[in-house]
Parts: sequence; C-alpha cells; structure tokens
Amino acid sequence: MKVTVVGAGAVGATCADNIARKELCEELVLLDIKEGIAEGKAQDMMQTAALLGFDTKITGTTNDYSATAGSDVVVITSGLPRKPGMTREELIGVNAGIVKGVCENILKHSPDAIVIVISNPMDTMTYLALTSTRLPKNRIIGMGGTLDSSRFKYQLSQQLGCSPADLNAVVVGGHGDTTMIPLIRLATWNSIPVTKFLNQGQQKQIVNDTMVGGATLTKLIGTSAWYAPGAAGAAMVEAIVRDEKKLFTCCVALDGEYGQKDICLGVPVIIGKNGWEKILDFGLNAEEQAAFNKSADAVRSMNDVLKTL
Ligand code: LAC
Repeated sequence: MKVTVVGAGAVGATCADNIARKELCEELVLLDIKEGIAEGKAQDMMQTAALLGFDTKITGTTNDYSATAGSDVVVITSGLPRKPGMTREELIGVNAGIVKGVCENILKHSPDAIVIVISNPMDTMTYLALTSTRLPKNRIIGMGGTLDSSRFKYQLSQQLGCSPADLNAVVVGGHGDTTMIPLIRLATWNSIPVTKFLNQGQQKQIVNDTMVGGATLTKLIGTSAWYAPGAAGAAMVEAIVRDEKKLFTCCVALDGEYGQKDICLGVPVIIGKNGWEKILDFGLNAEEQAAFNKSADAVRSMNDVLKTL
C-alpha cells in the first residue's frame, strides 16, 4: 500500500504520523510546496521509527508529484488554516485554487487513488474535488463528520463522565460552526440513549460546544486544530486500506439521499477498500431533516461561490 498526504502543515504531518504509527502502508509520501518542510518532517518522523517500532517508510518531497505515483489513498490537507475569529468559509478564495491544482497533479500520477479531503471549507472543497476531477463519486470523501463526531463524543463523555470509546454518536450536515448537526437523539452510551442521562440544558450545551469545537480551539491556539483532524484523516485511511467497512459520517456526493442532490454533505457512510461504499439512512425526524436542509442551503451557496472564482 502507498499513501500520500498533501500538505505537511500541522494537520498533514499529524495525519502522516498517525498513519506511520499504525503501519497502514509500506510507503508514505508527504508533499508540500514549501521548500524542505515535507522532507524535514518526514525525516523527523522516520527518526521515531526505532523508538515506536514501525516499518512504514516515510519520504518527503517539495512539490514533486512523481514521488506520489501509484498511491492507493491520497489525503489533501493543503491550504490556509483558520485564524481566530475566521470562519472556515472565508478560506474559499485561496483554498479552491490550491485544492483544484492538487487534485489535477495527484491524478496524473495516481489515477486510481481514493481521495480524502480535509482542506476547508471542507464541504465545498469536496464538491470541487468531485466536480473538477469527475472521479467516480465513491472515491472522493470529505473528512468533516468523522472529526465532528469525535468531538461530539468528547463533549458527551465530559458530561457523562464516561469513556468516549463507549459512545456511539454522529454529527451530520456541513462541517461549519452553524451547519453541523450533532444527532443527540440518536446518540447512545453502550446502547442506552444518552438523552436518558442528560437534561435538556446539558444536551443543548453539548450540541453547542460540539458545533463550535473547531472555533474554540482556533481561539485558544491561534490557528486551527490538528491532533483530532489529523487522527480523523488517518482513521479514514485505515478503514480504506484495511477494508474495515466502518461507519463514519463523511462528506459525500448525494443523489437524492437525505432529500438532497448535486451537493457533498456529511451523512453516515460505510468506508472500505472502494472508498465510501454505502450511505445509511438514519431516519431523521422532521426537525433534524429541516436542519439538514438548512445546512445544505448554506453549503450550496458556498458551492455557488466556486463559479465566481
Ligand atoms: C477543524 C478544522 C480542521 O475543525 O476544520 O479543526
């Protein structure tokens, strides 16, 4: 197996680090446009191999896409991160050009790759990757819901005083502070609905804290987060390369599912060796479906901005 991570910033490097530690592939390529960054971080990671005991061979390259040739999975993290007070949507102008160029270069050398999109605004960048490459839809997967669901489990675990690993909880819709929908009605703690243990106020707090999870960290750190985004990307790579058939909420092309078409948005999917293999219908109630439609409207108007660039 060969995996490429494009963008050796904090998210890309963390994703690569997780991939190597888990030995998800024999070859791992880190690529960045800034001279030396990818080579340096790749070497730094390789110098942990003796300590951590992994065999994945990591190499770095400054923008030489031929080094990525024959990749099975490519993770795109390129682009500017958020600054405090910024929304993910404000990054569209710069990041759209970068993501489009990366997709073209990647596919020249790895025409069969499955592409995971992390760059923001993630829903629109996933849609751009899909429409600009015209790849089969199952091979383009946006990461947002995987990260947001993990943040949702963190917030639930804090209130419940339980292990995040004992929770099942998903966030659907867009990967934006106001567009994501943490489905608390369906969240369970070892199969018991969490709503049994949490009052209305607590539930509201958890949902709100989840929605602004990324913004809260951006304010604290001064730039956008990387540990959970990088780990989320690596978890998706793992599900693909090990053909796990794991359920994640990911941003994928909808063709009537959840009442939406011609859009990429977060829904529960099965991830395996073919990319996203199946969309699951979680049976949203009227209120959740209304929120999902509102989220779709917001993402669609952001997708429309692509036409003006
Ligand atoms: C975040 C960025 C990666 O939510 O979108 O932290």
